[in-house]
Amino acid sequence: MKHMNKPVILTGLRANNNLHIGNYLGALLPIIDMARKRAGEYQVNLFVPDLHSFTTPIDHSALQAAIMQNLRVFVAAGLPLDNPDVHVYRQSYIPSHSELTWILDCFTGMGEMNRMTQFKDKAGKSQEQVSVGLFNYPVLMAADILLHRASYVPVGEDQTQHLEFTRDIAERLNNRFGELFVVPKPVQEQHKFFGKDQGLRIRDLQEPSKKMSKSEDSRRGIIYLTDTPGQAHKKIMSAETDSLGKVAYDAGTQPGISNLLTLLALISGRTLDDVQNEYEGRTQYGPLKTALADTMAEFLQDFQDKLAKVDEKSILNKLSVSEKQMNEQAGQVLLSVQKAVGLRE
Ligand code: TYM
Repeated sequence: MKHMNKPVILTGLRANNNLHIGNYLGALLPIIDMARKRAGEYQVNLFVPDLHSFTTPIDHSALQAAIMQNLRVFVAAGLPLDNPDVHVYRQSYIPSHSELTWILDCFTGMGEMNRMTQFKDKAGKSQEQVSVGLFNYPVLMAADILLHRASYVPVGEDQTQHLEFTRDIAERLNNRFGELFVVPKPVQEQHKFFGKDQGLRIRDLQEPSKKMSKSEDSRRGIIYLTDTPGQAHKKIMSAETDSLGKVAYDAGTQPGISNLLTLLALISGRTLDDVQNEYEGRTQYGPLKTALADTMAEFLQDFQDKLAKVDEKSILNKLSVSEKQMNEQAGQVLLSVQKAVGLRE
């Protein structure tokens, strides 16, 4: 397969909850932009990490529907299914992901996983027993990336540490066994590739000191892609800001206002500079909120119109083609690892 030699851009979005605007802007929009603008130059893999869905407890009877909903969201967001360089798949349909995870587990230190801040956050918060799956899910994520030889992995800032671990484990095995893996580009280079100067962290509208997160309970602070335009409008108009009374971009002292500026830039497709030039120094927060609330409502209306029209049959067709091709692609990398560690001749 000739097109399999192109550099790979890859990302995945978990399916256990409604996707929100942070997921959309942090991962989905960058990869879809690439799939549309640079088609032909890259292989683009967008997948549903279904095995990642129950690192924390979920309602398993709802998982199939959630997976399909994620796939529909990918298409509504503009993923070109008819492009042969674009691949869409479910992780668990490619058993090499689990197999490589086990092998990588045996080369990963407990200390390395213990240092993952996301694990510490989630484990600290959870009242339930913490699973081994939650502890070592960055290893599964590394396998997701390395099996497909991905160079570029658009993710939000919360996943940066996992990406760095992926580079570490790839280099560790390459040093020991020869060139098994393509090492993903350093994080700074990735930002440059996706036209950013740093990792994206959309903040909760009610608690701007925290990231917008699907595991949070504060639903008023989260804009879901399935919120009605009216609901989203209201959430933005009642977003928490500060009492400084002057619009400025400074995530340290004015996280709420900085978040609104970032959101307005990204949703309207403008640069942050441009938005800052328009609003910075103003003493009223209302006009910024109104501009964002209107733009967001319009965006959601358009997105949901597209979502309602998504044809599931075309998704199922694409899945069956991609999953076959990706099994083959991942199988080749897995075999070279199996040989290196002595599992195969
Ligand atoms: P997940 O499903 O939690 O989130 C999906 C993507 O959304 C990004 N994101 C954000 N970006 C900006 N601001 C926010 N507030 C925000 N919240 C979430 C996440 O950084 C992520 O990019 N482990 C991954 C899924 C995964 C994966 C992979 C990603 C599994 N295997 C391989 C890339 C490559 C996760 O749990 O993301």
